[in-house]
Amino acid sequence: MKGIVLAGGTGSRLWPITKGTSKQLLPIYDKPLIHYPIGTLMLAGIRDIFVITTPEDAPTFKRLLGDGSDIGVNFNYGVQESPRGIGEAFVIAEDFIGDDEVALILGDNLFHGHGLGTQLKEIRNVLGAEIFAYSVSDPERYGVVDFDKSGVAHSIEEKPLLPKSSYAIPGLYFYDNHVIEIAKNTPPSARGEIEITTINKTYLESGLLKVRVLPRGTMWLDTGTIESLNAASNYVKIIEERQGNKISCLEEISWRNKWISDSELKKIANLFNTNEYGIYLSKLTAGSN
Ligand code: TTP
Repeated sequence: MKGIVLAGGTGSRLWPITKGTSKQLLPIYDKPLIHYPIGTLMLAGIRDIFVITTPEDAPTFKRLLGDGSDIGVNFNYGVQESPRGIGEAFVIAEDFIGDDEVALILGDNLFHGHGLGTQLKEIRNVLGAEIFAYSVSDPERYGVVDFDKSGVAHSIEEKPLLPKSSYAIPGLYFYDNHVIEIAKNTPPSARGEIEITTINKTYLESGLLKVRVLPRGTMWLDTGTIESLNAASNYVKIIEERQGNKISCLEEISWRNKWISDSELKKIANLFNTNEYGIYLSKLTAGSN
């Protein structure tokens, strides 16, 4: 299973903040936003990760993340020249995906909750597509899925004025290798984008779309607006302060996955030894967290 983080876009709803930088580099409490979707892929057991950014922001992402070897993963990079839609990710990442199956996560999506990693690790040998549904109070802002009486996905609509259900489709999708061809054959929509909703509809129409409802105990946040960016920061702060555990600490996830050893984790902790993040990492190997 390969992984893609789509971290391009214009971030226009966050201007002027995002006039000079990528949304995905902004802090969500104590880490850059992109650490959260990367952490989700790592929790899913995915080590080969392709990060797609705008051409202008590419050097900063490379500086932030490097090649991933320090945290036991393998980062590769691609660029999206302009925001031509989420579906374009599969065209850009074609060579990286090769013959494998692939998970795509949006660079501004944050997932957190009990059992999430275990659930995501189970998604392998995907026959078609597997996506999620999450009940929200404002489904009209998202792709919306509704289900028939037996719980099978029935329709998918992009930002419907009158949503048929409260189930939004979060920005985390798993596909078989056909997704590359499907993306290539999906014409751009009226707004000039290769729509992920159209790709999902193609799978739905061929009876190959599985939709898993995320439990209420799972948190899914996107961070496209000032309001939601701030809410995400507050959420992370409250959980981390209360529990003493960090959300999406990449070094910790890697260490718990046994991708890096105690001594490798200690080495990283020493790089941050004057701040709270480094102290947290040091405590992990000391067994006190
Ligand atoms: P959006 O929030 O839909 O778009 P945006 O990030 O450009 O922001 P705004 O609407 O405020 O202008 O994108 C969701 C995520 O997907 C975000 O992480 C950026 C990414 N994205 C791309 O990288 N390329 C694209 O073509 C699109 C549509 C989104």
